Amino acid sequence: MSKKVLELLNEARSREITAITQYMAQHYELEDADYGKPAKKLKEIGIQEMKHAEALAERILFLKGTPTTKPDAVAKKGEEIAAMLTTDIALEAQAIKMYNEAAAVCAQEKDMISKQLFEKLLAEEEEHLNEFENIKDHIDKLGAAYMATLAG
Ligand SMILES: [Fe+2]
Ligand SMILES: [Fe+2]
Repeated sequence: MSKKVLELLNEARSREITAITQYMAQHYELEDADYGKPAKKLKEIGIQEMKHAEALAERILFLKGTPTTKPDAVAKKGEEIAAMLTTDIALEAQAIKMYNEAAAVCAQEKDMISKQLFEKLLAEEEEHLNEFENIKDHIDKLGAAYMATLAG
């Protein structure tokens, strides 16, 4: 089995663990500040990232590797909501770049199952990116009026 693919799977898992801790931290902070709607969205996306981390671990174990438990960055705390979204957009954009490159390497290494896994994750990260960009766009354009609709 390809050592390169195993490394990419573990790098992706570290990225997912970072996203999980970041979205959880934001979910709790938003809940606390009474922004119920984006809090719920972050919880939802965070749970999807947990499933990604699990799927990666299963593939790593199948390839006789050891799934990492380390994040690749420290979750940011105490950001304003617009800054949170900038953070999340960057996380998703980096994951998309990583997974696109990883899928291409998997093809070179003739590991089509790992390639398919990266493609499946990619489709969901693109959706996450789109959702975060939409919220950020609304905040930038509508400001306080939009923020008021996020309560609850
Ligand atoms: Fe993910
Ligand atoms: Fe994501």
